[in-house]
Amino acid sequence: MRHLIDPLDFSQEEITSLLDLADRIRSDPAAYQDVAAHKKLATLFYEPSTRTRLSFEAAMLNLGGHVLGFPSETVSSASKGESVADTIRVVSCYADIVAMRHPKEGAPFRASRYSRIPVINAGDGANQHPSQTMLDLYSIYKTQGTLRDLTITMVGDLKYGRTVHSLLMAMSYFNPTFNFVACNELQMPQEYKDFCNEHGIRYRETREFSPDVINESDIIYMTRVQRERFSDLEEYERVKNLYNLHNSMLDDSKPTVRILHPLPRVGEISQDVDDNPKAYYFQQAQNGLYARQAIIC
Ligand code: NCD
Repeated sequence: MRHLIDPLDFSQEEITSLLDLADRIRSDPAAYQDVAAHKKLATLFYEPSTRTRLSFEAAMLNLGGHVLGFPSETVSSASKGESVADTIRVVSCYADIVAMRHPKEGAPFRASRYSRIPVINAGDGANQHPSQTMLDLYSIYKTQGTLRDLTITMVGDLKYGRTVHSLLMAMSYFNPTFNFVACNELQMPQEYKDFCNEHGIRYRETREFSPDVINESDIIYMTRVQRERFSDLEEYERVKNLYNLHNSMLDDSKPTVRILHPLPRVGEISQDVDDNPKAYYFQQAQNGLYARQAIIC
């Protein structure tokens, strides 16, 4: 039995074949419509979600399976004080696979220790979001034709943003160069910079979302400032609007650059970017369906 707790649970070969499978599912969905017949996916979401939960559920339905679960901890027994360990023991009796999102870092890992069925981490606090990474990698591959040797600029909340943490780790297989664009309060945590150093990954930290940085990028990965992770809301107010991408800022960017964002956006990308062919975030969300179908398969 395999779990998906962080992106390095997959080897480079497994990631490549997963992306290949996602692509085959995209081009011939009917061929996969019975793969999960009579199987059940439980979505255990202790934190808000739109895309992740709905695309996991749609993915399971597209594979001929069924879904059950809860969209918030308030309607589960967690609100009565039940532990994750007890919940997963019980859900193991009802379902064949679980996608779990939890505000506490490590909760899906803990669940996996007690589970009799595979657990997919659908986001744990500010830590990891590996299924998002598979759709991000698929989006990068589809738009760049390769995952290798790319310059990836991550912008915004690099401290609390779990999507950038997971993407950084998975990209270690593919010789990336990173620009980390963030204010002092929201820098990429030291453990991820150590990870880069250990893996020989080049990175540059800057507070300026400058034309130089934009114009050398193959991928610009925008993120939302994660309001729910701040203990000091005054600090959130100070930093929430520091980085905004406007259409005119892309004038001299590479023709092949693509703008990614895990969504939801709350102002990091101005709406005038949406019609630019370099904007890819809604297609990225669509790719979530194929990537999650491949993960379930
Ligand atoms: C992200 C998340 O939940 O970490 N959203 C998502 O899963 N698509 C990013 C975010 O909430 O800002």
